[in-house]
Amino acid sequence: MKSDDSADEGDERGVDHAPRFDPVNPYWERFLDEAGLDMTGARGDGCYIETADGRALLDCLAGFGTANLGHAHESLLARFADALQRTSVNVFPFECAESQLALADKLLTLSGQRFQKVFFATTGAEAVESAVKFAMTSTGRTDVVAFRDGFHGLSMFSSFMTGNPFWTEALRWKPGNVHHVDAHNFAALEDVLASRKIAAVVFEPVAGSSAAQHWSADTASRLAALCRSTGTKLIADEVYCGLGRTGTWFGIDAIGMDGKTPAAPDMLVVSKGLTGGLVPLSAVLMNDGDFDAVFGAPGKAKVQGSTFGGNRLAMQCGLIVLDLVERGRLVENAAAMGALIGERIAARFDSRVTLHGKGLALSLKLDPGLDLSMTDVWLDLIDGGVLAMPNSAAPDSLRLSPPLIFGVDEVEVLIDRLDEALQP
Ligand SMILES: Cc1ncc(COP(=O)(O)O)c(C=O)c1O
Repeated sequence: MKSDDSADEGDERGVDHAPRFDPVNPYWERFLDEAGLDMTGARGDGCYIETADGRALLDCLAGFGTANLGHAHESLLARFADALQRTSVNVFPFECAESQLALADKLLTLSGQRFQKVFFATTGAEAVESAVKFAMTSTGRTDVVAFRDGFHGLSMFSSFMTGNPFWTEALRWKPGNVHHVDAHNFAALEDVLASRKIAAVVFEPVAGSSAAQHWSADTASRLAALCRSTGTKLIADEVYCGLGRTGTWFGIDAIGMDGKTPAAPDMLVVSKGLTGGLVPLSAVLMNDGDFDAVFGAPGKAKVQGSTFGGNRLAMQCGLIVLDLVERGRLVENAAAMGALIGERIAARFDSRVTLHGKGLALSLKLDPGLDLSMTDVWLDLIDGGVLAMPNSAAPDSLRLSPPLIFGVDEVEVLIDRLDEALQP
Protein backbone atom coordinates (compact mmCIF):
# COMPACT_ATOMS: atom_id res chain seq x y z
CA MET A 1 0.00 0.00 0.00
CA LYS A 2 1.16 3.54 -0.67
CA SER A 3 2.22 5.85 2.17
CA ASP A 4 -0.25 8.43 3.47
CA ASP A 5 1.77 11.42 2.32
CA SER A 6 1.84 10.19 -1.28
CA ALA A 7 -1.98 10.16 -1.23
CA ASP A 8 -1.98 13.96 -1.01
CA GLU A 9 0.00 14.37 -4.19
CA GLY A 10 -2.72 13.59 -6.74
CA ASP A 11 -2.16 14.80 -10.29
CA GLU A 12 -4.92 16.00 -12.62
CA ARG A 13 -5.79 12.42 -13.59
CA GLY A 14 -6.30 11.42 -9.98
CA VAL A 15 -3.17 9.26 -9.99
CA ASP A 16 -1.58 9.95 -6.62
CA HIS A 17 1.88 8.46 -6.95
CA ALA A 18 4.24 7.81 -9.80
CA PRO A 19 2.60 4.78 -11.34
CA ARG A 20 4.92 2.11 -12.67
CA PHE A 21 2.30 1.03 -15.17
CA ASP A 22 1.56 4.49 -16.50
CA PRO A 23 1.70 3.46 -20.18
CA VAL A 24 -0.66 0.54 -19.55
CA ASN A 25 -3.35 1.62 -17.08
CA PRO A 26 -2.40 3.76 -14.09
CA TYR A 27 -6.04 3.87 -12.93
CA TRP A 28 -6.22 0.10 -12.60
CA GLU A 29 -2.87 0.08 -10.87
CA ARG A 30 -4.16 2.66 -8.42
CA PHE A 31 -7.40 0.72 -7.79
CA LEU A 32 -5.47 -2.48 -7.00
CA ASP A 33 -3.02 -0.57 -4.87
CA GLU A 34 -5.74 1.10 -2.80
CA ALA A 35 -7.68 -2.13 -2.35
CA GLY A 36 -4.51 -3.97 -1.29
CA LEU A 37 -5.01 -6.36 -4.20
CA ASP A 38 -1.90 -5.76 -6.26
CA MET A 39 -0.43 -9.19 -7.01
CA THR A 40 1.92 -8.08 -9.76
CA GLY A 41 4.56 -10.72 -10.38
CA ALA A 42 2.47 -13.63 -9.07
CA ARG A 43 3.34 -17.12 -10.33
CA GLY A 44 1.15 -20.17 -10.68
CA ASP A 45 1.57 -23.84 -9.82
CA GLY A 46 -1.32 -26.29 -10.07
CA CYS A 47 -4.30 -24.85 -8.17
CA TYR A 48 -2.14 -22.25 -6.40
CA ILE A 49 -0.85 -18.79 -7.18
CA GLU A 50 2.21 -17.57 -5.34
CA THR A 51 2.28 -13.79 -4.96
CA ALA A 52 5.49 -11.81 -5.33
CA ASP A 53 5.56 -11.32 -1.54
CA GLY A 54 5.49 -15.09 -1.00
CA ARG A 55 1.83 -15.74 -0.09
CA ALA A 56 0.14 -18.86 -1.47
CA LEU A 57 -3.41 -18.33 -2.77
CA LEU A 58 -5.75 -21.16 -3.70
CA ASP A 59 -6.86 -20.06 -7.16
CA CYS A 60 -10.65 -20.31 -7.37
CA LEU A 61 -10.79 -18.13 -10.49
CA ALA A 62 -8.44 -19.91 -12.92
CA GLY A 63 -7.92 -16.82 -15.06
CA PHE A 64 -11.64 -16.13 -15.63
CA GLY A 65 -12.14 -19.87 -16.15
CA THR A 66 -9.39 -20.32 -18.74
CA ALA A 67 -6.81 -22.32 -16.76
CA ASN A 68 -8.74 -25.60 -16.76
CA LEU A 69 -5.54 -27.56 -16.20
CA GLY A 70 -4.33 -25.24 -13.47
CA HIS A 71 -1.04 -23.40 -13.75
CA ALA A 72 2.32 -24.56 -15.07
CA HIS A 73 0.87 -27.94 -16.08
CA GLU A 74 4.02 -29.87 -16.93
CA SER A 75 2.66 -31.95 -19.76
CA LEU A 76 0.77 -29.03 -21.32
CA LEU A 77 3.85 -26.83 -21.27
CA ALA A 78 6.12 -29.56 -22.66
CA ARG A 79 3.73 -30.49 -25.46
CA PHE A 80 2.99 -26.86 -26.28
CA ALA A 81 6.74 -26.05 -26.37
CA ASP A 82 7.19 -28.94 -28.75
CA ALA A 83 4.34 -27.67 -30.96
CA LEU A 84 5.95 -24.22 -30.93
CA GLN A 85 9.29 -25.69 -32.04
CA ARG A 86 7.59 -27.46 -34.93
CA THR A 87 5.48 -24.47 -36.04
CA SER A 88 7.57 -22.89 -38.78
CA VAL A 89 4.62 -20.92 -40.19
CA ASN A 90 1.82 -20.01 -37.79
CA VAL A 91 -0.54 -17.79 -39.80
CA PHE A 92 -0.70 -18.94 -43.39
CA PRO A 93 -3.55 -17.62 -45.55
CA PHE A 94 -3.46 -20.21 -48.33
CA GLU A 95 -4.18 -23.45 -46.59
CA CYS A 96 -6.79 -25.70 -45.09
CA ALA A 97 -4.68 -26.62 -42.05
CA GLU A 98 -4.63 -30.25 -40.87
CA SER A 99 -4.68 -29.06 -37.27
CA GLN A 100 -7.89 -27.08 -37.93
CA LEU A 101 -9.47 -30.23 -39.26
CA ALA A 102 -8.30 -32.26 -36.25
CA LEU A 103 -9.58 -29.72 -33.70
CA ALA A 104 -12.88 -29.24 -35.55
CA ASP A 105 -13.34 -33.02 -35.63
CA LYS A 106 -12.61 -33.21 -31.92
CA LEU A 107 -15.10 -30.48 -31.01
CA LEU A 108 -17.81 -31.95 -33.24
CA THR A 109 -17.24 -35.40 -31.74
CA LEU A 110 -17.46 -33.98 -28.21
CA SER A 111 -20.74 -32.32 -29.21
CA GLY A 112 -22.11 -35.74 -30.18
CA GLN A 113 -22.19 -34.59 -33.84
CA ARG A 114 -25.01 -32.20 -33.00
CA PHE A 115 -23.20 -29.69 -35.21
CA GLN A 116 -21.37 -30.25 -38.47
CA LYS A 117 -19.15 -27.21 -38.90
CA VAL A 118 -16.68 -25.24 -36.77
CA PHE A 119 -15.64 -21.63 -37.34
CA PHE A 120 -12.46 -20.59 -35.47
CA ALA A 121 -11.94 -17.09 -34.09
CA THR A 122 -9.70 -15.57 -31.44
CA THR A 123 -11.71 -14.11 -28.55
CA GLY A 124 -15.07 -14.92 -27.04
CA ALA A 125 -16.57 -11.63 -28.18
CA GLU A 126 -15.36 -12.15 -31.72
CA ALA A 127 -16.92 -15.60 -31.87
CA VAL A 128 -20.24 -14.43 -30.38
CA GLU A 129 -20.38 -11.55 -32.86
CA SER A 130 -19.49 -13.91 -35.69
CA ALA A 131 -22.35 -16.19 -34.67
CA VAL A 132 -24.72 -13.19 -34.71
CA LYS A 133 -23.47 -12.22 -38.19
CA PHE A 134 -24.06 -15.80 -39.34
CA ALA A 135 -27.61 -15.70 -37.93
CA MET A 136 -28.32 -12.36 -39.62
CA THR A 137 -27.01 -13.65 -42.94
CA SER A 138 -28.84 -16.93 -42.69
CA THR A 139 -32.20 -15.40 -41.73
CA GLY A 140 -31.97 -12.11 -43.61
CA ARG A 141 -33.14 -10.43 -40.40
CA THR A 142 -31.77 -7.41 -38.58
CA ASP A 143 -32.25 -7.65 -34.81
CA VAL A 144 -30.94 -9.61 -31.84
CA VAL A 145 -32.32 -10.53 -28.42
CA ALA A 146 -30.04 -10.92 -25.41
CA PHE A 147 -30.83 -11.33 -21.71
CA ARG A 148 -30.50 -8.50 -19.27
CA ASP A 149 -28.02 -10.16 -16.90
CA GLY A 150 -25.93 -11.70 -19.66
CA PHE A 151 -22.31 -11.01 -20.52
CA HIS A 152 -21.05 -11.47 -24.07
CA GLY A 153 -17.82 -9.48 -24.19
CA LEU A 154 -16.78 -5.90 -24.73
CA SER A 155 -16.15 -5.42 -28.44
CA MET A 156 -18.63 -3.00 -30.01
CA PHE A 157 -21.69 -5.15 -30.69
CA SER A 158 -21.01 -7.54 -27.81
CA SER A 159 -20.93 -4.60 -25.40
CA PHE A 160 -24.46 -3.78 -26.44
CA MET A 161 -25.62 -7.39 -26.14
CA THR A 162 -24.14 -7.45 -22.64
CA GLY A 163 -27.10 -6.28 -20.58
CA ASN A 164 -25.43 -4.11 -17.95
CA PRO A 165 -25.42 -0.45 -19.16
CA PHE A 166 -22.17 0.12 -17.23
CA TRP A 167 -20.22 -1.05 -20.29
CA THR A 168 -21.87 1.28 -22.81
CA GLU A 169 -23.21 4.31 -20.96
CA ALA A 170 -20.27 6.49 -22.04
CA LEU A 171 -21.06 5.89 -25.71
CA ARG A 172 -23.33 8.34 -27.48
CA TRP A 173 -24.21 5.84 -30.23
CA LYS A 174 -26.49 2.83 -29.73
CA PRO A 175 -27.05 0.18 -32.37
CA GLY A 176 -30.85 0.15 -32.05
CA ASN A 177 -31.26 -3.50 -33.02
CA VAL A 178 -30.49 -5.18 -29.69
CA HIS A 179 -33.48 -6.03 -27.49
CA HIS A 180 -32.98 -6.99 -23.85
CA VAL A 181 -35.40 -9.29 -22.10
CA ASP A 182 -35.32 -10.63 -18.54
CA ALA A 183 -34.28 -14.29 -18.48
CA HIS A 184 -37.34 -16.58 -18.35
CA ASN A 185 -39.80 -13.79 -19.23
CA PHE A 186 -41.50 -15.79 -21.98
CA ALA A 187 -44.32 -13.28 -22.47
CA ALA A 188 -41.78 -10.57 -23.35
CA LEU A 189 -39.83 -12.98 -25.52
CA GLU A 190 -42.92 -14.05 -27.44
CA ASP A 191 -43.77 -10.41 -28.04
CA VAL A 192 -40.41 -9.48 -29.44
CA LEU A 193 -40.00 -12.67 -31.50
CA ALA A 194 -43.45 -12.16 -33.01
CA SER A 195 -42.03 -9.17 -34.91
CA ARG A 196 -40.18 -11.70 -37.12
CA LYS A 197 -37.27 -9.25 -37.16
CA ILE A 198 -35.13 -11.21 -34.72
CA ALA A 199 -32.22 -13.06 -36.33
CA ALA A 200 -30.96 -14.60 -33.08
CA VAL A 201 -31.51 -15.01 -29.38
CA VAL A 202 -28.21 -15.24 -27.50
CA PHE A 203 -28.23 -16.97 -24.12
CA GLU A 204 -25.77 -18.39 -21.59
CA PRO A 205 -26.88 -21.88 -20.47
CA VAL A 206 -24.88 -21.33 -17.26
CA ALA A 207 -23.93 -17.70 -16.77
CA GLY A 208 -20.49 -16.45 -15.86
CA SER A 209 -20.97 -12.92 -14.62
CA SER A 210 -24.45 -13.17 -13.15
CA ALA A 211 -24.06 -15.52 -10.21
CA ALA A 212 -23.98 -18.79 -12.20
CA GLN A 213 -27.68 -18.43 -13.01
CA HIS A 214 -28.76 -21.14 -15.36
CA TRP A 215 -31.63 -22.29 -17.49
CA SER A 216 -33.49 -25.51 -16.70
CA ALA A 217 -34.21 -28.29 -19.17
CA ASP A 218 -37.80 -27.06 -19.41
CA THR A 219 -37.11 -23.38 -19.85
CA ALA A 220 -34.25 -23.96 -22.29
CA SER A 221 -36.39 -26.32 -24.37
CA ARG A 222 -39.21 -23.79 -24.34
CA LEU A 223 -36.75 -21.12 -25.47
CA ALA A 224 -35.48 -23.36 -28.29
CA ALA A 225 -39.00 -24.26 -29.40
CA LEU A 226 -40.03 -20.60 -29.43
CA CYS A 227 -37.00 -19.71 -31.53
CA ARG A 228 -37.67 -22.54 -33.95
CA SER A 229 -41.34 -21.65 -34.38
CA THR A 230 -40.47 -18.05 -35.23
CA GLY A 231 -37.53 -18.80 -37.53
CA THR A 232 -35.07 -17.32 -35.02
CA LYS A 233 -31.60 -18.79 -34.49
CA LEU A 234 -30.68 -19.74 -30.94
CA ILE A 235 -27.05 -19.11 -30.02
CA ALA A 236 -25.64 -20.70 -26.85
CA ASP A 237 -22.81 -18.55 -25.51
CA GLU A 238 -20.65 -21.15 -23.75
CA VAL A 239 -17.52 -19.01 -23.79
CA TYR A 240 -17.39 -19.45 -20.01
CA CYS A 241 -19.41 -22.56 -19.26
CA GLY A 242 -18.35 -24.77 -22.19
CA LEU A 243 -15.72 -27.53 -22.43
CA GLY A 244 -16.03 -29.25 -19.10
CA ARG A 245 -16.48 -26.49 -16.55
CA THR A 246 -20.09 -27.48 -15.78
CA GLY A 247 -19.16 -31.13 -15.17
CA THR A 248 -20.35 -32.01 -18.68
CA TRP A 249 -18.60 -31.12 -21.91
CA PHE A 250 -21.18 -28.46 -22.69
CA GLY A 251 -23.38 -26.24 -20.57
CA ILE A 252 -26.44 -27.32 -22.56
CA ASP A 253 -25.84 -30.86 -21.30
CA ALA A 254 -25.49 -29.68 -17.71
CA ILE A 255 -28.91 -28.01 -17.84
CA GLY A 256 -30.45 -31.05 -19.55
CA MET A 257 -31.15 -29.62 -23.02
CA ASP A 258 -31.15 -32.92 -24.82
CA GLY A 259 -29.56 -31.44 -27.89
CA LYS A 260 -32.19 -32.82 -30.25
CA THR A 261 -34.61 -30.75 -32.31
CA PRO A 262 -36.25 -28.57 -31.13
CA ALA A 263 -34.16 -28.41 -27.98
CA ALA A 264 -30.77 -27.81 -29.56
CA PRO A 265 -29.28 -24.38 -30.10
CA ASP A 266 -28.42 -23.60 -33.72
CA MET A 267 -24.95 -22.40 -32.79
CA LEU A 268 -22.73 -22.88 -29.77
CA VAL A 269 -19.75 -20.70 -28.93
CA VAL A 270 -16.78 -21.93 -26.87
CA SER A 271 -13.55 -20.24 -25.89
CA LYS A 272 -12.01 -19.80 -22.45
CA GLY A 273 -11.15 -23.36 -21.44
CA LEU A 274 -10.16 -24.43 -24.94
CA THR A 275 -6.46 -23.64 -24.63
CA GLY A 276 -5.91 -23.88 -20.88
CA GLY A 277 -5.29 -20.12 -20.65
CA LEU A 278 -2.18 -20.17 -22.87
CA VAL A 279 -3.34 -18.62 -26.14
CA PRO A 280 -6.60 -16.93 -27.15
CA LEU A 281 -8.90 -19.15 -29.20
CA SER A 282 -12.65 -19.35 -29.73
CA ALA A 283 -14.94 -21.39 -31.94
CA VAL A 284 -18.51 -21.38 -33.20
CA LEU A 285 -20.07 -24.83 -33.62
CA MET A 286 -22.87 -24.66 -36.16
CA ASN A 287 -24.91 -26.65 -38.65
CA ASP A 288 -24.39 -27.12 -42.38
CA GLY A 289 -27.41 -25.04 -43.34
CA ASP A 290 -26.31 -21.85 -41.59
CA PHE A 291 -22.70 -22.37 -42.65
CA ASP A 292 -23.68 -22.76 -46.30
CA ALA A 293 -25.88 -19.65 -46.12
CA VAL A 294 -22.87 -17.60 -45.01
CA PHE A 295 -19.88 -19.10 -46.80
CA GLY A 296 -21.47 -21.03 -49.67
CA ALA A 297 -22.40 -18.16 -51.98
CA PRO A 298 -19.96 -17.51 -54.87
CA GLY A 299 -16.88 -15.63 -53.68
CA LYS A 300 -17.92 -15.77 -50.00
CA ALA A 301 -15.71 -18.63 -48.77
CA LYS A 302 -13.75 -16.24 -46.54
CA VAL A 303 -16.47 -13.67 -45.82
CA GLN A 304 -15.82 -13.89 -42.06
CA GLY A 305 -12.51 -14.41 -40.29
CA SER A 306 -9.63 -12.73 -38.52
CA THR A 307 -5.84 -12.66 -38.80
CA PHE A 308 -5.23 -15.19 -36.02
CA GLY A 309 -8.44 -17.19 -36.53
CA GLY A 310 -7.40 -20.83 -36.94
CA ASN A 311 -3.65 -20.19 -36.47
CA ARG A 312 -1.70 -23.44 -36.24
CA LEU A 313 -0.30 -22.89 -32.76
CA ALA A 314 -3.72 -22.20 -31.23
CA MET A 315 -5.09 -25.31 -32.96
CA GLN A 316 -2.27 -27.43 -31.52
CA CYS A 317 -2.84 -25.95 -28.09
CA GLY A 318 -6.58 -26.72 -28.25
CA LEU A 319 -5.86 -30.31 -29.26
CA ILE A 320 -3.35 -30.79 -26.42
CA VAL A 321 -5.66 -29.25 -23.80
CA LEU A 322 -8.72 -31.29 -24.82
CA ASP A 323 -6.57 -34.43 -24.81
CA LEU A 324 -5.29 -33.69 -21.30
CA VAL A 325 -8.78 -32.83 -20.02
CA GLU A 326 -10.04 -36.13 -21.43
CA ARG A 327 -7.13 -38.27 -20.16
CA GLY A 328 -7.35 -36.69 -16.73
CA ARG A 329 -11.13 -37.30 -16.62
CA LEU A 330 -11.37 -33.67 -15.61
CA VAL A 331 -14.96 -33.19 -16.77
CA GLU A 332 -16.01 -35.95 -14.39
CA ASN A 333 -13.76 -34.40 -11.75
CA ALA A 334 -15.47 -31.00 -12.20
CA ALA A 335 -18.84 -32.68 -11.59
CA ALA A 336 -17.56 -34.53 -8.51
CA MET A 337 -15.76 -31.55 -6.97
CA GLY A 338 -18.75 -29.27 -7.63
CA ALA A 339 -20.98 -31.76 -5.83
CA LEU A 340 -18.49 -32.04 -2.96
CA ILE A 341 -18.30 -28.27 -2.54
CA GLY A 342 -22.12 -28.22 -2.41
CA GLU A 343 -22.19 -30.96 0.26
CA ARG A 344 -19.50 -29.33 2.39
CA ILE A 345 -21.17 -25.94 2.21
CA ALA A 346 -24.56 -27.36 3.21
CA ALA A 347 -22.99 -29.33 6.08
CA ARG A 348 -20.84 -26.51 7.44
CA PHE A 349 -22.97 -23.43 6.85
CA ASP A 350 -26.63 -24.59 6.71
CA SER A 351 -28.57 -21.84 5.00
CA ARG A 352 -26.02 -19.13 5.84
CA VAL A 353 -24.34 -19.72 2.48
CA THR A 354 -25.97 -21.02 -0.68
CA LEU A 355 -24.17 -22.39 -3.70
CA HIS A 356 -25.43 -21.88 -7.26
CA GLY A 357 -24.29 -23.21 -10.59
CA LYS A 358 -23.15 -26.47 -12.15
CA GLY A 359 -19.91 -28.43 -11.80
CA LEU A 360 -17.16 -25.88 -11.18
CA ALA A 361 -19.08 -22.94 -12.68
CA LEU A 362 -20.18 -21.77 -9.25
CA SER A 363 -21.30 -18.80 -7.25
CA LEU A 364 -21.79 -18.27 -3.51
CA LYS A 365 -24.50 -16.18 -1.92
CA LEU A 366 -24.80 -15.15 1.73
CA ASP A 367 -28.00 -15.18 3.75
CA PRO A 368 -28.98 -11.48 4.00
CA GLY A 369 -29.73 -12.09 7.71
CA LEU A 370 -25.98 -12.52 8.29
CA ASP A 371 -25.46 -8.81 7.85
CA LEU A 372 -22.09 -9.42 6.19
CA SER A 373 -20.95 -7.68 3.03
CA MET A 374 -19.74 -9.92 0.24
CA THR A 375 -16.92 -7.46 -0.40
CA ASP A 376 -15.63 -7.99 3.15
CA VAL A 377 -15.93 -11.75 2.85
CA TRP A 378 -14.12 -11.64 -0.48
CA LEU A 379 -11.23 -9.56 0.90
CA ASP A 380 -11.04 -11.74 4.03
CA LEU A 381 -10.87 -14.81 1.81
CA ILE A 382 -7.92 -13.31 -0.06
CA ASP A 383 -6.24 -12.49 3.27
CA GLY A 384 -6.88 -16.09 4.30
CA GLY A 385 -5.35 -17.43 1.08
CA VAL A 386 -8.25 -18.02 -1.33
CA LEU A 387 -8.62 -16.12 -4.59
CA ALA A 388 -12.23 -15.57 -5.73
CA MET A 389 -14.09 -12.56 -7.12
CA PRO A 390 -17.51 -10.91 -6.85
CA ASN A 391 -19.64 -11.46 -9.97
CA SER A 392 -19.62 -8.34 -12.14
CA ALA A 393 -23.39 -8.49 -12.81
CA ALA A 394 -24.24 -9.57 -9.23
CA PRO A 395 -21.64 -8.15 -6.84
CA ASP A 396 -23.45 -9.53 -3.78
CA SER A 397 -22.38 -13.00 -4.89
CA LEU A 398 -18.94 -14.55 -5.19
CA ARG A 399 -17.72 -16.29 -8.31
CA LEU A 400 -15.87 -19.59 -7.99
CA SER A 401 -14.39 -20.97 -11.20
CA PRO A 402 -11.43 -23.06 -10.03
CA PRO A 403 -9.27 -25.19 -12.35
CA LEU A 404 -10.86 -28.49 -13.32
CA ILE A 405 -7.97 -30.27 -11.54
CA PHE A 406 -9.39 -29.06 -8.19
CA GLY A 407 -9.20 -31.90 -5.65
CA VAL A 408 -10.60 -32.91 -2.27
CA ASP A 409 -7.76 -31.16 -0.41
CA GLU A 410 -8.48 -27.93 -2.24
CA VAL A 411 -12.18 -28.22 -1.40
CA GLU A 412 -11.32 -28.57 2.30
CA VAL A 413 -9.05 -25.51 2.19
CA LEU A 414 -11.79 -23.50 0.48
CA ILE A 415 -14.42 -24.48 3.09
CA ASP A 416 -12.10 -23.82 6.06
CA ARG A 417 -11.09 -20.41 4.74
CA LEU A 418 -14.69 -19.53 3.99
CA ASP A 419 -15.61 -20.46 7.56
CA GLU A 420 -12.91 -18.10 8.82
CA ALA A 421 -14.02 -15.31 6.50
CA LEU A 422 -17.58 -15.60 7.82
CA GLN A 423 -16.55 -15.13 11.44
CA PRO A 424 -17.70 -11.73 12.75
C1 LIG B 1 -20.24 -15.81 -21.45
C2 LIG B 1 -19.18 -14.95 -22.07
N1 LIG B 1 -19.29 -14.59 -23.35
C3 LIG B 1 -18.37 -13.83 -23.97
C4 LIG B 1 -17.26 -13.38 -23.28
C5 LIG B 1 -16.23 -12.54 -23.98
O1 LIG B 1 -15.05 -13.24 -24.15
P1 LIG B 1 -13.69 -12.44 -24.45
O2 LIG B 1 -13.36 -11.68 -23.23
O3 LIG B 1 -12.69 -13.51 -24.77
O4 LIG B 1 -13.97 -11.56 -25.63
C6 LIG B 1 -17.10 -13.72 -21.94
C7 LIG B 1 -15.94 -13.24 -21.17
O5 LIG B 1 -15.89 -13.22 -19.98
C8 LIG B 1 -18.09 -14.52 -21.31
O6 LIG B 1 -18.00 -14.89 -20.02
